[in-house]
Parts: sequence; C-alpha cells; structure tokens
Amino acid sequence: MTRLLLGGLVFAAMAMLPGRALHRTPDAEPPLTEPAYTQTGELTRPVRHREWIFVGASLGLSYAPEQQASGHGQFHHVYLQPAAYRAFVATGSFPPGTMLALEIYEPGEKTPPALQGLFEDRRVALEIAVKDPSRFPEAWAYFGFGDGSRATGTKAGPGCVACHRKHAAIDHVFTQFYPVLREARR
Ligand code: HEC
Repeated sequence: MTRLLLGGLVFAAMAMLPGRALHRTPDAEPPLTEPAYTQTGELTRPVRHREWIFVGASLGLSYAPEQQASGHGQFHHVYLQPAAYRAFVATGSFPPGTMLALEIYEPGEKTPPALQGLFEDRRVALEIAVKDPSRFPEAWAYFGFGDGSRATGTKAGPGCVACHRKHAAIDHVFTQFYPVLREARR
C-alpha cells in the first residue's frame, strides 16, 4: 500500500516537471529568436529556419518583365518565425525581430521513377528579411547567404527594400502570395 502511494507520488511529481517537450502548454512556446549580427553588420544565419512556419511556395515568380530563358523558372519557399506568425494572426502586423526566410531551388525533372513533372533540385539561394527598426531606418533589411551554406549574410542594396515597400501587401511582406498569411487574416 505504502509502495503504491509512493509510486503515485513520484508519478505525480514527474508529471509536474517543467520542460517536457511533449507536454508543453501553448504558453511555453519558444519566444521570437532575435536577429544576431556580426561586428561588421552581417546577419548570423538562423540555425533552424526550416522549423519555422511554412507560409507559401511559388514557381517561376520573377520580377523581370521578359520571359525567362530556362522555361519553368525556380521554386521559392518562404518561412516565417513562429512567434512572429502568432503575433501576425493576433494583430495583423509583424513585431520587431520578425524574420522571414526565402529559399530558392532549381527545378529538376525526368529522374526515374518521376518521369513527368518537376521537383526541387539544387538550392541556389537563401535570403532573409529582417524587421529591426532599432537598426535600419526603414525597419526592414534584406540579407543574402549565397546558396545557403554561408554562416553569415551580406546586407543587400536599396533595390530590395524599395520593391518590397512599393509592392508588398502588408508592411514590406508579400502576404498576397502566401496562402497561410492570407488565410490568417480572414
Ligand atoms: C522588383 C521587386 C522585388 C525586388 C527588387 C526584390 N524582391 Fe524580394 N520578393 C519579391 C516578391 C514578389 C516576393 C514574393 C515571394 C517570392 O518571390 O517567392 C519576394 C519575397 C522575398 C522574401 C520573402 C519574405 C517577404 O518579404 O515576402 C525575401 C526574404 C526577399 N524577397 C528578399 C529579397 C532580397 C534579398 C532582395 C534584393 C537582393 C529582394 N528580395 C528584392 C519582390 C522583390
């Protein structure tokens, strides 16, 4: 009897232990990962952007008016930090510290057994948009990480922010092209 009671107590105590991933309450979800920079102003590549919210994909979206020579164009993937996603759902705006990652893949085809259609082959680019009003006059800045293997990203020129300011639906972010964000605000 005593043993049973003790066992029960130990079980109850274990159930109350914090930090058991599978039993986390929504309150314990990870906070926004703050952007980190090197001394020379490069952005440190966030290590887990593939665990962020996948907000949309596109094929062949291009900013150039002429038809692309390669035919299909490339695949784009866009991820948003989970805490920023939740803030956007709740308020309709992106909090300071928001980061979005854009990955670009070359299309592959005719690789057995997939003889029709296209798949995502080699990654050719990783770019990150950062909202950091304490650091950038226009709040947002854009960083390129080459094919995504670089540990730090170089800040891109003013052309990026100009197009995003002018054409993106909500606060420099192209929410009009991301189904998950379109639906979040309906
Ligand atoms: C002429 C317009 C234009 C220019 C210039 C431009 N972008 Fe974008 N960008 C877009 C569009 C349209 C999207 C929508 C998603 C896509 O392309 O798949 C986008 C999406 C993005 C995203 C995903 C998050 C978001 O803001 O929606 C990142 C990151 C990004 N661009 C980085 C850059 C970088 C870095 C540069 C400069 C080297 C740049 N962009 C220049 C039009 C532009």
